[in-house]
Amino acid sequence: MRQSSLVVVAMRLPIDDSVAPDGACEWRRSPGGLVSALHPLLRQTPATWVGWAGGSGPAPSLPDVDGVRMHTVPLTLDDLRDHYEGFANATLWPLYHDAVEQPEHHRRWWEAYQRVNQRYAEATAAVAEPGAIVWVQDYHLQLVPGLLRALRPDLRIGFFLHVPFPPPELFMQLPRRAELLRGMLGADLVGFQRAQAAHNFAQLTTKVLGVSATDRRIAVDDRVVRIGAFPVSIDTAEMSALAGSPEVAERAQRFRRDLGDPAHVILSVDRMDYTKGIEQRLTAYSELLASGHVKVRDTVLVQVAVPSRERVGQYQVLRDRVEREVGRINGEFGRVGEPAIHYLTQPFDRAELAALYRVADVMAVTPLRDGMNLVAKEYVAARVDDSGALLLSEFAGSATELSQAYLVNPHDLEGLKQGLLSALEADPADVTTRMRAMRAHLHRYDIRAWARSYLSALDESGSLLHRLGGP
Ligand code: ADP
Ligand code: G6P
Repeated sequence: MRQSSLVVVAMRLPIDDSVAPDGACEWRRSPGGLVSALHPLLRQTPATWVGWAGGSGPAPSLPDVDGVRMHTVPLTLDDLRDHYEGFANATLWPLYHDAVEQPEHHRRWWEAYQRVNQRYAEATAAVAEPGAIVWVQDYHLQLVPGLLRALRPDLRIGFFLHVPFPPPELFMQLPRRAELLRGMLGADLVGFQRAQAAHNFAQLTTKVLGVSATDRRIAVDDRVVRIGAFPVSIDTAEMSALAGSPEVAERAQRFRRDLGDPAHVILSVDRMDYTKGIEQRLTAYSELLASGHVKVRDTVLVQVAVPSRERVGQYQVLRDRVEREVGRINGEFGRVGEPAIHYLTQPFDRAELAALYRVADVMAVTPLRDGMNLVAKEYVAARVDDSGALLLSEFAGSATELSQAYLVNPHDLEGLKQGLLSALEADPADVTTRMRAMRAHLHRYDIRAWARSYLSALDESGSLLHRLGGP
């Protein structure tokens, strides 16, 4: 088995299988934040990514992808049902997002969560060279740091949670709360999106495990676990360059024409998820249409909602409700050839997405709760001419950094309507000032800055980053 000095562990491998022109199956690097974030670093050292390649058969043996070794973890249909759809996405996901949907608890799901986490830990132990740095990602794998430390105490282990970490009142509902906390404390550094999450975690470790904790350090056994906020970011330069390209500018113009050349285009881009506030946004829009504050001929709403986690009941119910409401609004307020809402459930490639961002005068990102929300950051990066109003939920992690956005509370229907109107009617000079400030922030604090700030905190000796050319 080839071993690496840097190992990333995530539920999914950063690849998609696609069919090459000659009909052969080809593995490609999937677009997406984490891969782009880590790719420049992974390429410079013998690195391995441990994860699932999709499907439920035996683990395929994959070629290296852009110089990074792919180490597959096999998952069975039972694992997918009970670990991924069950414990990860029907227990932890709703609980960590303010329980906006009711979390479910089943012993069988917990057993699968332990079993699958053990498998990832063993796979990681096999590919990490002595003293390697291992970076474990997200809520699917919270037990991996502890399990891995038991197998390989020589490793330097980091854990990063991409989703919110809830306040004690919510986390305390979990039947296996102590085990989950102990799992995370197997890491040397536990990273969160926001300082509030680190605070919640510190409080909980004291309350549940009785350990001594501050918002920076937790004493466990004879070790110190460091914790902190490391807000994830995007490849700002890449999105700016793409959005600024003549092809994308031309595509954006065509989009605008196809939309009927309206005075205002509002865009939302979400996974179809109950945390994203899609229904609340549709209600607000519908009421603005009904009151005449927004007119179909002047304004269009483009709602992109890619189906997600489709075998989980709550996601099926949501999709039905959203589609019924879009149909109702279009039936009531649309005209022939002029729908009130353009509703799209397709995946878009990056250039099409960049063109959509460029065409959007107002970007409505109004989740009820979100760890970060990269769409908000991508929109800002794509606004190369410093125009465009970002309407952003206070409950998205990105609101901490993008404080110049038009901030709204998506639970407050009147506030949401007012926010949409303010963004639509904003003074262009104000819009530009805000956008410039947000763009400057994202150029400084991009995905590489994120990865480096996390890894330099994890790699106290500095040996890895030294090899990679310093922080
Ligand atoms: P989440 O991780 O909860 O889905 P984020 O906003 O943080 O939410 O990240 C979503 C990512 O998925 C973004 O990088 C966005 O560009 C991408 N994405 C969303 N919708 C689509 C789509 N229809 N086609 C392609 N990519 C999409
Ligand atoms: C969030 C999670 C990721 C997850 C993504 C898409 O961003 O933090 O870990 O990969 O949603 O969800 P999916 O269930 O399709 O992997």
